[in-house]
Amino acid sequence: MEGYVKSVSASNVPEGSMMTVEVEGEQVLLARVDGKYYGMGGLCTHEQWDLSEGVLEGTTVTCAGHGSMWDLKTGKGEFDEPLDSEPLYDVKEEDGFIYVKKL
Ligand code: FES
Repeated sequence: MEGYVKSVSASNVPEGSMMTVEVEGEQVLLARVDGKYYGMGGLCTHEQWDLSEGVLEGTTVTCAGHGSMWDLKTGKGEFDEPLDSEPLYDVKEEDGFIYVKKL
């Protein structure tokens, strides 16, 4: 598990949910969709709202701030103005904990 940082208990991210955690000083959005974990930058690049306060539908996160839509698979956001992409993270579960590595 080289390069991975131990994060929260996997029970904190049940199927269909998301939460923001801090990993080495960065805010990371963790989400679980169809049994797979995703990791993406946790603060909207529009005006820095916490993306975990938004709505998760499939692998799309709608920001609670002003409605930009983020793809957990690509880190790209759609909005009516260009937005910087979010960084992506690899997320694994082992022994009941979540491990995160920046890609
Ligand atoms: S802060 Fe996310 S859309 Fe404005």
